[in-house]
Amino acid sequence: MGNRTFTMIKPDAVGNRFEGAILNMICEAGFRIVAIKKTQLSAAKAGEFYAVHKERPFYGELVEFMSSGPIVAAILEKDNAVEDFRKLIGATNPANAEEGTIRKKYAESIGRNAVHGSDSDENAQIEGDFFFSGLEKF
Ligand code: CMP
Repeated sequence: MGNRTFTMIKPDAVGNRFEGAILNMICEAGFRIVAIKKTQLSAAKAGEFYAVHKERPFYGELVEFMSSGPIVAAILEKDNAVEDFRKLIGATNPANAEEGTIRKKYAESIGRNAVHGSDSDENAQIEGDFFFSGLEKF
């Protein structure tokens, strides 16, 4: 059980000005912000980040959307971080997300689903390192 996960607030949620409300839900749920930045991915960088989905039919759409506007990237800390964060954000498809979850409240669709959360401790490390150097983690 690791104590860090990685998240992105996606272009739909940033565009809708939900970033403050989402960060508040994250902090209220007991996560500590280790690192945070607002940035915009190029299509090449978004493709690299989501390379595991390269063969999926939605890959092109995913890369286009994730590079379409600014995102907020963050490393979060809490006991059991990966699993607890996935509970807080809810199912990938907001239509299946439980009441009170971030995606139920703020996501529009399976593609425009407001937030990303790492699916394993190993990916949390890889994804955090994709955005942040050691000098940016506190
Ligand atoms: P995320 O947790 O960021 O990881 C991969 C993303 O691919 C996922 O959230 C969804 O936003 C997206 N995704 C998964 N399935 C589909 C789909 N069927 N159509 C469009 N996007 C999808």
